[in-house]
Amino acid sequence: MNRSNVMNELGKILGPQGLLTAPEDIADFGIDWRRLQIGRPLAVARPANTAQVAELLRLCNTHGIGVVPQGGNTSMVAGATPSAAGDELVLCLARLNQVRQVDPRDLTITLEAGTTLRAAQEAASAAGCQLPLSIGSEGSAQIGGVLSTNAGGNNTLRYGNARDLVLGLEVVLADGSVIEALRRLRKDNTGYALRHLFVGAEGTLGVITAAVLRLVPAPRQSEVALCALASAGAALALLGRLQRHDPAALVAFEYISDAAMQLVLRHIPDTALPVAAAPAYALIHLATPRPGSDLRAGLEQVLAEAIEAEDCIDAVMAESLAQQAALWRLREEQSEAQKRAGASVKNDISVPVSSVPDFLARASAACAALIPNIVIAPFGHLGDGNIHFNLVQPPELEAAQFLGASETIMAAVNDVVRQLDGSFSAEHGIGRLKPAMLAAWRGGAELATMRAIKQALDPNGILNPGKLFPDRVERDG
Ligand code: MLT
Ligand code: ZN
Repeated sequence: MNRSNVMNELGKILGPQGLLTAPEDIADFGIDWRRLQIGRPLAVARPANTAQVAELLRLCNTHGIGVVPQGGNTSMVAGATPSAAGDELVLCLARLNQVRQVDPRDLTITLEAGTTLRAAQEAASAAGCQLPLSIGSEGSAQIGGVLSTNAGGNNTLRYGNARDLVLGLEVVLADGSVIEALRRLRKDNTGYALRHLFVGAEGTLGVITAAVLRLVPAPRQSEVALCALASAGAALALLGRLQRHDPAALVAFEYISDAAMQLVLRHIPDTALPVAAAPAYALIHLATPRPGSDLRAGLEQVLAEAIEAEDCIDAVMAESLAQQAALWRLREEQSEAQKRAGASVKNDISVPVSSVPDFLARASAACAALIPNIVIAPFGHLGDGNIHFNLVQPPELEAAQFLGASETIMAAVNDVVRQLDGSFSAEHGIGRLKPAMLAAWRGGAELATMRAIKQALDPNGILNPGKLFPDRVERDG
């Protein structure tokens, strides 16, 4: 069957609503959020249900057509972008967007892959529960992508990553067969935990079409504070104080360097710094379902001790939910501010939490030595050791010139990460941008095992080609 016959078959499977082919309708599906990769979809499939996903994959597998699953298209590593060759089908899951069930007794939510994370959070809270996963892109990121990338985000220190919330999955394999494992069990030791293969696989082993996630009781009380700090070391000390005081209440502890804060204040309208300017800031979020808790008094006490010890220079506690949101905005708008500030090189790294100050000092010195006036603007999830060590172009360089130095910059940062026994990709994954790093860091038996699994589940290599594994990237040169 030639390609136009395959397209005709696809049209029959998906119906008139389900297949986009006009260049103006499909162009945006080829471009990643950071606009680093301009791909060209063969077409965009928009199936309405799991059966259509299965038929589509069966057809594409038979004819060797690459399929790129795409959710909200918010990947930081071009993980959902098709190649520029125009030969890969984008599989958009947006029409599979039903929340099938929220069960407050079992504390579970059963939902389809195209549901946005925000819609899922709202469905959980409407039932008096909370889906405790929070990432900057939650308004557009979809559950399928969130699980396929094992998203981390702001609450990892309390609730773990996306993987830790998954109880069951429905997955369509490359040959069109369906793993129907939407189980809601807390204990289920029945052979390999296959769900964990697909979480974090970036769509290279199968297409997640639905999931059962764990919920927690909705918080009754929450507190948010922003602290101005003398250094990253002071931030670490403050984290320790909070953990010793009430570890169950601490849901987020986010770090913002002064350079990163200044970018938000400059590029994002209606933002203001409510504390004294300082070298570093920490955003603290506490929450509890316990009625009548002394959350606020406890936080005041910890902050007073930190001020007394001269770790904390200044602090403000939100007085209302609106103020909580305004403080969080200073953190959540980081990526957007950096995008507006020009070209940036992102290093999504993790190190043991206690090594974060050391990492920041060493990586900053390495980058400053490489490019004069480079804007070193780190921020991130200090509470779990994941720092977005992002560098923004200095004013005197063109964007292309600066991006030309990306590999050198990333190599310098990664040298420090290696010395501290960390990871070059903490939560953003590998995508199209980092397969060479995966080979360099996870070569040997680790990569060989990953390849064996890929070969077993997707022998024709149709699922998300060019992602994770270095092959195609090397072939493309
Ligand atoms: C975030 O935490 O805001 C994103 O993961 C980070 C980024 O822009 O690097
Ligand atoms: Zn992050």
